Amino acid sequence: MPDTDTKAAAPNTHLAPYAAKGLKGRILSGVQPTGNLHLGNYLGAIRNFARLQDDYECLYCVVDMHAITVWQDPAALSSQTREIAAAFLASGVDGRKHAVFNQSAVPEHAQLAWVFNCVARLGWMNRMTQFKEKAGKDRENASLGLYAYPALMAADILIYKATHVPVGEDQKQHLELTRDIAIKFNNDFHTPDFFPVTEPLIFGAATRVMSLRDGTKKMSKSDPSDYSRINLTDDADAIAQKIRRAKTDPLPMPDTAADAEKRPDADNLLGIYAALADQEKDAVIAAFAGKQFSEFKAALTDLAVAKLGPVGAEMQRLMKDPGYVDSVLNEGAAKARAIAAPILADVYKTVGFLKP
Ligand code: TYM
Repeated sequence: MPDTDTKAAAPNTHLAPYAAKGLKGRILSGVQPTGNLHLGNYLGAIRNFARLQDDYECLYCVVDMHAITVWQDPAALSSQTREIAAAFLASGVDGRKHAVFNQSAVPEHAQLAWVFNCVARLGWMNRMTQFKEKAGKDRENASLGLYAYPALMAADILIYKATHVPVGEDQKQHLELTRDIAIKFNNDFHTPDFFPVTEPLIFGAATRVMSLRDGTKKMSKSDPSDYSRINLTDDADAIAQKIRRAKTDPLPMPDTAADAEKRPDADNLLGIYAALADQEKDAVIAAFAGKQFSEFKAALTDLAVAKLGPVGAEMQRLMKDPGYVDSVLNEGAAKARAIAAPILADVYKTVGFLKP
């Protein structure tokens, strides 16, 4: 009988081979090609991808199979897939040293996901808040793929036995589920060290960037107002306009962290500034304490244009060279498959699938 107790964590012996190479582990992370990449995606995840690449072996994946859990126009999906790959490269990821690829090009993700569909419990899936948010009121009409989404995400990570996953805070629950799936698989098949119990890497001053129109709501690709987010491809004028129109309150700038915490719109802008400037939020609060928002917003605009402008420009340049982007994706998929195929073969053997 399989063991449904997920409490006993398997010891993580997966780091030793990396330590021997002077590395801290193996990273896998993914971004959906579902429309405008925004400042939240950049500060919460993509910027960190490049920052981690000297210390880890990295696999960065454009998760096109996750994207189709809600309807995607096929032509738009292809170009958005290249756009996300371009964003990885423009943010400094070395696509020749590490693997940058799209998920559907490595069929082992889907193959492991099926096994995980049979490991994960309905009760676990029912707790997933992202499904509830995305399915909304019309849950009966949501795709089966949207419901199984977190099991595919666990497969993305564990098909490489990745030890670390850099993400924004909103993915925390999915990573906890990934850990539960790894532990249950290890327990059920009496293979205590088969999958690592993956660690999330959630760091920086902006792990949860909020909407510019409402500091209590997450900045999101799906917000109908384009003024709610700064897109990575926005030009300097658009960035300036959006920051000028960002919601604030009538008081002067907060002068303590406690004051900022009570004022979500101000707090969000301060967090964005701190992340872009690579400063502690407390230092930014101290620098602008008691000043007018107009002065702060002017400084934030200059900073955002200086930091995001080059990334946007490089993305645009790469988008005009789809042949190059495709060559990076092809190379990345080959590297990824070379890691994934033997791990899937081991999984199949462990589960008891015949290989005639
Ligand atoms: P996605 O495509 O929604 O977002 C990509 C990354 O951006 C982060 N993010 C944010 N960070 C800070 N503030 C925000 N407002 C904000 N919005 C998004 C997300 O946390 C994420 O890191 N399920 C994932 C994609 C995925 C994945 C994976 C991630 C599929 N397989 C395996 C890691 C590992 C998602 O929907 O991300």
